[in-house]
Amino acid sequence: VTISVAKSGGNVTTSLQYGAMEEEINHCGEGGLYAELIRNRAFQGSTKYPSSLDAWSAVGRSSLSLQTLADPLSTALPNSVNVKGTGIVGLANEGFWGIDVRPQKYTGSFYVKGSYTGSFTASLLSSTGEVLATTKVASKSVANEWVQHEFILTPKKKAADSNNTFSLTFDGSKTSSGSLDFNLISLFPPTWNDRPNGMRRDLMQALADLGPKFLRFPGGNNLEGDTIEGRWKWNETIGPLKDRPGRATTWQYGETLGLGLVEYMQWCDDLGMEPILAVWAGLALNGEVVPEADLDFYVQDALNEIEFLTGSVDTEYGALRAKIGHPDPWKIRYVEVGNEDHLSDGLSSYRAYRFSAFYNAITAKYPDIQVLASTINMTIPGTAGGDYHLYDTPDNMVTQFDMFDNFSPDHPILLGEIAATEPNNAGNINWDDTHFSMYPWWIGTIGEAVFLLGAERNADKIIGTTYAPFLMNLDSYQWSPTLLSFNSNPDQTARSTSWHLYSLFNHNHMTNTLPATSSDAFGPLYYATGVDNKTNSHIFKAAVYNSTAEVPVSLTFEGVGRGTKADLTILTAPDPFAMNEVGGANIVNSKTTQIKAGKKGEFSFKLPNLSIAVLATQ
Ligand code: AHR
Repeated sequence: VTISVAKSGGNVTTSLQYGAMEEEINHCGEGGLYAELIRNRAFQGSTKYPSSLDAWSAVGRSSLSLQTLADPLSTALPNSVNVKGTGIVGLANEGFWGIDVRPQKYTGSFYVKGSYTGSFTASLLSSTGEVLATTKVASKSVANEWVQHEFILTPKKKAADSNNTFSLTFDGSKTSSGSLDFNLISLFPPTWNDRPNGMRRDLMQALADLGPKFLRFPGGNNLEGDTIEGRWKWNETIGPLKDRPGRATTWQYGETLGLGLVEYMQWCDDLGMEPILAVWAGLALNGEVVPEADLDFYVQDALNEIEFLTGSVDTEYGALRAKIGHPDPWKIRYVEVGNEDHLSDGLSSYRAYRFSAFYNAITAKYPDIQVLASTINMTIPGTAGGDYHLYDTPDNMVTQFDMFDNFSPDHPILLGEIAATEPNNAGNINWDDTHFSMYPWWIGTIGEAVFLLGAERNADKIIGTTYAPFLMNLDSYQWSPTLLSFNSNPDQTARSTSWHLYSLFNHNHMTNTLPATSSDAFGPLYYATGVDNKTNSHIFKAAVYNSTAEVPVSLTFEGVGRGTKADLTILTAPDPFAMNEVGGANIVNSKTTQIKAGKKGEFSFKLPNLSIAVLATQ
């Protein structure tokens, strides 16, 4: 295939291109990125998932009972556990299916109520009962008052596995009533950037290495809620943890809301990501829609949320942000209204009044914000953009390579959820079943690469692309495959085959696309071409899908002469169904070679079938 790339005539890209999408699914946050190690730390419940003692067990001759006391820790956390017994008694937590223990500082705290003159013992224990770390905490506990206690645990060695527990004990004979009440029992390992209430380091490292340029949050279905009342309410996710009530996710478990709006923004700060904030749009997953006459309250709530994030401290919600410790406003350039509003019978009301109500109000108050519809299945008004999601077979991903060629740049599109989820020729996706693949697999990744190249060719119209869902805890998940998979042992985190694709494309960023001509049609070689104006590096990104032989390529960039050096990176895998698994070795073979342009400035190389490649001039 001979390809000539012109030196002008392309478009300026949006500069975001590849990002991340987060919603609470697959224990992505709870028991995942959000570094809290104690599961069910505050016995939070909801109508759907009533408060329980899940993950807790009694230690010694004690009994645990769930209580809803007349004087709870807070209105948000009305439930607590009463631990009753004589001698050394207490409670133990199994963590999110294990607790990783290694020589580092663990920061813990708990609230307790009841008169007690002894001390508490906080410990990390192996499955055989070996004490991995322990500390005594002097009691400040008194009757009729909730008192917070803090402690540090520092194990001396790495545990043999992550099958460890946390225990908190006390001497029952030194209580005045024979029992104590506990709530909000928390334990954190060191977090990314050492933020209190922060994020798990290994997963953040995998994201940092990926180099995402934006974060779409907080969902996904989880934003919408099962019911209107069950929606993700931003104002319940901020402030002290004891004031966050938790809620039922739409994914079969409850969330503490410890990973809340401010934590999302700090996550963006920490990884240099542009926030793409999704606001609730008047539609719940059960199909309930807010009637037009009642919508103002929710539109105002979205404006309040944006003011909370971006307003000066002189505004009502900017002042609230300052009050909880964040005087400096953030910048928001993109707000998406809802999620997949063409589903759940939501499209007619979205078209008729819901989208325009949010769009008009947000644009009037914040003209610099680009508002996005959560669909492209409607005429998008004014300066708004859209969001397109694709979960499909590799073949169908390839078929959509040219989908964006005729789109208008007037309504830029976010590709907010993209993944190959089903093998070719396997019929329709059965959403009630687990998907074909636990992990992204190589030919699926190649299909995604072709689709991404179609988007990059149109990178003035496509705001950016993100894989979804992003993460999955292998011990409890609802949806596979995902970009990263993990369990409680950080050494076993799997960066999927698709992670390698996104990482390669992300680290070779084009500020401008450049038009290419060739006498060969696209397929089996698909590509996008451009330049990074900051470095003057000329870039060719490609994927080979279903070729019967290696594809010889002769590539010239107008203005790039003989002898110019370029790095050519080619990703391959041992077979089309190879996957990167939790605890396994990386199967993606990445080879970078330096090549030189020939007499006519041509770069000559061959790309194997089922390969992904990037050539970047030096
Ligand atoms: O990413 C998983 C789900 O897929 C999201 O919650 C939803 O937006 C889509 O249907």
